[in-house]
Amino acid sequence: MAIFISFEGGDGSGKSTHARTLANRLKLEGLDVKLVREPGSTPLGQYLREWLKQERDTDDISPTTELLLFSAARAELVEKVVAPALEKGTTVISDRFTGSTLAYQGYGRGLSIGTINEINKTSTSGLIPDLTILLDCPVEIGLARGNDGQGQRRFEEESFHFHERVRQGYLKLANAHSDRWHTIDSTLSVPKIEEFVWALVTPYLTAD
Ligand code: TYD
Repeated sequence: MAIFISFEGGDGSGKSTHARTLANRLKLEGLDVKLVREPGSTPLGQYLREWLKQERDTDDISPTTELLLFSAARAELVEKVVAPALEKGTTVISDRFTGSTLAYQGYGRGLSIGTINEINKTSTSGLIPDLTILLDCPVEIGLARGNDGQGQRRFEEESFHFHERVRQGYLKLANAHSDRWHTIDSTLSVPKIEEFVWALVTPYLTAD
């Protein structure tokens, strides 16, 4: 059975590292695994990622435009990469997915959660991860760790309050969808987090 897992978390929460580690571990178990990241993993997604990386004023595009750009990249990713992979039985791990848009554009920027839910439904054709792992990290620790070193200045330079809203939004989402969202304290040691991630994933490996 193909499993779809997403990792979510604030900037510097370590989700990219843990998404990669999980992908490698599942490959060792003999599964076909596709690791994708958002934005990215398609030409449009990669273009958007580069564009966002450039140093610029954070108010250069409106929050609604930002929402639609991330959603456009996601529509492309789902249609061209994620859905075809799942269809052929490949397990997909996504470093960020719809939860990021709810947390950043919804709780962070203040756009309507109802509207984002609708747009998320459209951009994914209703595809929902089987499991979402939230790596929860206090804002000051996440920002001090920095991101993957590629300089996502646009979001890094947002205020502490913005990132705190994102964090609280994530926790709210995890609470509201506790059937498929699970939270791990990302200040724990890397091996401990890997152990928790594995414990969350293994039930899906044995499911029919
Ligand atoms: P990413 O490079 O994954 O950041 P990090 O490595 O710090 O986790 O993502 C780039 C930024 O894009 C990140 O700050 C979150 C933001 N983002 C949104 O605001 N909305 C979205 O829908 C997505 C996918 C990302």
